[in-house]
Amino acid sequence: MSNRNKFFHRVAVGAASVALLAAAGCGATTTGGGDGETATASVEEGFTIGLLLPESKTTRYEKFDRPLFEEAVAEICPNCEVSYQNADQDVAKQQSQAEAMLTQGVGVLVLDAVDAEAAGSIVQQAKGQGVPVVAYDRLAQGGVDYYVSFDNKTVGNVQGEALIAGMEAAGTAGEGEVVMINGSPTDPNAADFKAGAHEILDGQVEIGAEYDTADWSPDRAQQQMEQAITSIGAEEISGVYSANDGMAGGVIAALKSAGVEELPPITGQDAELAGIQRIISGDQYMTVYKAIQPEAEIAAAMAVAAATGEEYEGSADNPLTESTDGEGNTVPSVLIEPVAVTAENVEDTVISDGFYSIEEICTDAYADTDLCKEAGDS
Ligand code: GAL
Repeated sequence: MSNRNKFFHRVAVGAASVALLAAAGCGATTTGGGDGETATASVEEGFTIGLLLPESKTTRYEKFDRPLFEEAVAEICPNCEVSYQNADQDVAKQQSQAEAMLTQGVGVLVLDAVDAEAAGSIVQQAKGQGVPVVAYDRLAQGGVDYYVSFDNKTVGNVQGEALIAGMEAAGTAGEGEVVMINGSPTDPNAADFKAGAHEILDGQVEIGAEYDTADWSPDRAQQQMEQAITSIGAEEISGVYSANDGMAGGVIAALKSAGVEELPPITGQDAELAGIQRIISGDQYMTVYKAIQPEAEIAAAMAVAAATGEEYEGSADNPLTESTDGEGNTVPSVLIEPVAVTAENVEDTVISDGFYSIEEICTDAYADTDLCKEAGDS
């Protein structure tokens, strides 16, 4: 199956399982988390779903996760409402947003935790009131009901493998030093990305400097890269592992302002528009594309199932598996496969999947790239 077909297949199956769930009615009564009060919710009457996202600096959350989740809910539970809050990276703010939602009487919380450990108290509070919790993208502690994300260790593997392939293509494999800029230490995914990248890179490249980056801050990443340049020397840096696209932007700015003209391979994640544009112009080597549509659809289906006392059963393409949270609780999970994107497959992934249009990517500054020239010719 071509990449393109695989994507359509995946999305179609996701939608089908959502449709099945809706057809099944899901009109049950749920008794919640044992020690809490009894919560009643039905698809027929509808209920409120609380969606808590962690930040708005990374474009995915406002541009994709929120609208796609709202669309998925509208599809499978037309009488449901989504109550949405973004924590802007602030742990205390997320806590009070969750408390307000619980007071408001939501039927279920869908929680993308700023801090997975701190979020444990939100989960406990919700469970105490019989409100189920779906962990979205990041696995909050406290024994959530379901978890949907990508295989985050695989994300790190894919980044590490691409970095090595990029160094081989540049003829610098085995030479110089690699700088690693990891994500936020409070984000459990960042630890998985880092571990997955180390699995591939250790023993294959020399790691000259490595940093964890609070808040996934691109500015901080830029400062860390400046430090690495000072200690290693710009010409000695043969590759940069950046855990996401936002930070890759900071890394590239630091290298350019140090006078580096031929940039080493640099990784990223999230297929942000700016990341894709840097890939087609050659500044960034790769990004990781996470198809957020199935993630949002599965989260919506899990949320509706949990609130109505049904079981979410997974689909053939995205079956249920198990994850273990930071406290050792086992959580039924769906982990979607991430996809590496380089200049070679931008068209077969983010464009054919409708994540971005050629018009969005090919702004004036990128008109001279091969992709945009070809698009202009056809
Ligand atoms: C992670 C998430 C990534 C990315 C990152 C910040 O938790 O899985 O997709 O958004 O935060 O870039």
